[in-house]
Amino acid sequence: MSKVVVITGANSGIGLAAAKLYESNGYFVVLGCRDEKKGLSTEKEIGKKSKFLKIDMTDYESINNFYDNLKAEFDKVDIFYSNAGIMYVPFSVTKEGHESTLGTNYFGSSYLTLKMLDLMKDVDNSRIIQISSIAMYFIKEMRYEGLEDETIYSPWTWYNISNLYRTMFSFELDRKINKLKTDVAVVHPGVTRSRLYRRSKPTLGYRIIDKFKTNVSTGVAPVIEASTTISLKKERVYAPRIIHQYGKPSTYKANKLAYNLQEREILWNYTLDKIGMKDIL
Ligand SMILES: NC(=O)c1ccc[n+]([C@@H]2O[C@H](COP(=O)([O-])OP(=O)(O)OC[C@H]3O[C@@H](n4cnc5c(N)ncnc54)[C@H](OP(=O)(O)O)[C@@H]3O)[C@@H](O)[C@H]2O)c1
Repeated sequence: MSKVVVITGANSGIGLAAAKLYESNGYFVVLGCRDEKKGLSTEKEIGKKSKFLKIDMTDYESINNFYDNLKAEFDKVDIFYSNAGIMYVPFSVTKEGHESTLGTNYFGSSYLTLKMLDLMKDVDNSRIIQISSIAMYFIKEMRYEGLEDETIYSPWTWYNISNLYRTMFSFELDRKINKLKTDVAVVHPGVTRSRLYRRSKPTLGYRIIDKFKTNVSTGVAPVIEASTTISLKKERVYAPRIIHQYGKPSTYKANKLAYNLQEREILWNYTLDKIGMKDIL
């Protein structure tokens, strides 16, 4: 049987590019998408070695249904690419009570990642690939208070926090599951041209950044590298080699907060409490 890869947000941008590459490398690709029409059209585009399953990362019931459907069809998963994400959105709160950027990029992805372990933990060389961003480096201290407070909400800051937390949670998960067969890797694609930026305001700063964006083939390369390299580098971020932006994949240090084990433990407990998964590991 083919190796199985599960991708969230597989109908667009880096997720779609990864789906195509995994398929061409012989994987069976499970396409986790929130929009049925887009999911089915992606399944048609990728072909017979793919299957669309519906998932909304902001809704735990939807994540549970996705997982149950996955488990009904597959008895193992080789790669889980946690890719779905949003950026620069107006303030709103998810069904689960999280601000939506954090709810999608962080809490939803952490919830699904922990569930996925059951299908991966006994699979040789299985890998969880968590997308993150250079945005993580802008955060200088941990923050837990007021994350659901509209009066202090700032779209960029919350996006930055979501990426730092994605990284720290992944490093901590990798440490906690070191006896299992699954490794966890973190990837930054570089600033890549995609729909992610569709709500950004055309300020001067944004127009300058826009000039430096790379195409999706550069952005997806570190994802594939982190999925396939034999000797995975622990607690590093896979990203394009030149200033995290251009060229072939290499690895970098994360934000230094990600190496503070005490902060990681606090974030870990805070997160498990928030997603209702205390004592899972
Ligand atoms: N592009 C960059 O420069 C860059 C840099 C660093 C990190 N990243 C990260 O890379 C990931 C992919 O981004 P992209 O650039 O490829 O953007 P994109 O083209 O907008 O893709 C995002 C994907 O996530 C899906 N998604 C959003 N909210 C969801 C939800 N609640 N449930 C399920 N799926 C959801 C979207 O589905 P819909 O089509 O239904 O909206 C879409 O398929 C994101 O996590 C982003 O933070 C991107």
